Amino acid sequence: MNEVEKFESEVAKNIDGLSKDKDVQALSRIWIREISPHKYAYNFKWLGRPAIQFPQDQVALQELIWSIKPDLIIETGIAHGGSLMFSASMLALLDMEDAINSGTNMNPKISNRKVLGIDIDIRAHNKSAIEAHPMASRIQMIQGSSIDPNIIKQVHDIAKSYKTILVCLDSNHTHEHVLAELEAYASLTTKDSYCIVYDTAVEDMPENLSGDRPWGPGNNPKTAVWQYLQSHSEFEIDKSIESKLLITVAPDGYLKRIG
Ligand SMILES: C[S@@+](CC[C@H](N)C(=O)[O-])C[C@H]1O[C@@H](n2cnc3c(N)ncnc32)[C@H](O)[C@@H]1O
Repeated sequence: MNEVEKFESEVAKNIDGLSKDKDVQALSRIWIREISPHKYAYNFKWLGRPAIQFPQDQVALQELIWSIKPDLIIETGIAHGGSLMFSASMLALLDMEDAINSGTNMNPKISNRKVLGIDIDIRAHNKSAIEAHPMASRIQMIQGSSIDPNIIKQVHDIAKSYKTILVCLDSNHTHEHVLAELEAYASLTTKDSYCIVYDTAVEDMPENLSGDRPWGPGNNPKTAVWQYLQSHSEFEIDKSIESKLLITVAPDGYLKRIG
């Protein structure tokens, strides 16, 4: 085993250890429960735009994007645009990697790589800030419900021009809505890529944390994932991601397309 393989093997053992450590998993769930009323996920920005995410999930997404090298990332739920910026900036880095590999070095061409965001309500101040952002050329936004057949058709039409697609679902978190999003978009995920379903952690949290929202334990993205997987063996949950993150809003939400 060379040094790189030794390190990889050590990390794999660490992650396997975490996957069996019920105490640290329980502590992590307690931490998420206790931090949630503080709206911790609102505290962070990516390239100046608020990204309503846990930093740990962003690091996991960075690892996935760098290894999968998608040319299209489809995201439901735009909010302030931070997650669009995150994906767009990763696509810019993939363009830079291509430029360096092709010998054009510091002159990366803007490829057709794109982030496609869908939101039922793109608020004017967010829309103008996203459109004025240096990453804007890699971002396309569609306003409408992600489960509206017209919107689904637009997304599928756009996706036809792309080869490697990653999907992130982060809009309305009810079981019914997420299941409909999975039925609408998961099939666009290309083999070996991921469909990431956020806020599955709602299932593991006490009912009162969901407040007056229409979702809660028993009715949330995780229950939708479980139902979807019953008839979609082309996907499997990548448990290793939540094992290494521990702090994640997406337990059982990292779906890898295996078939
Ligand atoms: C949790 S926020 C998205 C956060 C964003 N992905 C980020 O990381 O910063 C949820 C968003 O979903 C949008 N939304 C709610 N219902 C929707 C629907 N039916 N279709 C599309 N978007 C919806 C809301 O307007 C809101 O902007």
